Amino acid sequence: MKFFVDTANLDEIRELNDLGVLDGVTTNPSLMAKVGITGRQNVLNHYLAICEMVEGDISAEVIATDFEGMMREGMELANLHDNIVVKVPMTRDGIKAINAFSEQGIRTNCTLVFTVGQALLAAKAGADYVSPFVGRLDDVSTNGLALIQDIVTVFNNYDMFTEVLAASIRHPVHIVECAKMGADVVTCPASSIDKLFNHPLTDIGLAQFLADYKKVE
Ligand code: E4P
Repeated sequence: MKFFVDTANLDEIRELNDLGVLDGVTTNPSLMAKVGITGRQNVLNHYLAICEMVEGDISAEVIATDFEGMMREGMELANLHDNIVVKVPMTRDGIKAINAFSEQGIRTNCTLVFTVGQALLAAKAGADYVSPFVGRLDDVSTNGLALIQDIVTVFNNYDMFTEVLAASIRHPVHIVECAKMGADVVTCPASSIDKLFNHPLTDIGLAQFLADYKKVE
């Protein structure tokens, strides 16, 4: 399972990339705003900086909601760097744009997916990734992980080319459960990936080894 980090923060991206566990990056307009990136040219420069840092797929989201606008913005993003994947929302115009991008060899990630039906539409339109939002479903008392399982099952039934990119990940259990279900990718906040390191027995065991080593030093 590939690990993408869900952030626009260059320090967080650099730190994970240096660990050697990072396969890509996803961003969205909220994450860009969180790090204070505004204005089209600054946004484009920021995507370029991420692409130059990480060897992997970088999702860059369109802001337009109409077909023509999505096509215009998506082309501009795709022309920035070979690793850009154009992130398009799950709407009628979005599906039309995904289809048009795929015919031109431009890779896409269909975002804001909350049902298996939406995932199927995106796959049929030619999306390279679908992004079902686990945490946001959990937030409304719906089992987000069950959606991942269902989409993985349906895509496997038909040997579909589209990858399941589990998004809106909130904690390490989400990550591990997605891996057990066979999701192709998880995109997580850096803090969730960091928590995978932790176990009290690891800390206790290391302290004990060092203490014992000191006795015979
Ligand atoms: C990434 O592609 C999504 O935009 C992101 O995972 C959404 O996460 P959130 O629900 O924590 O905002």
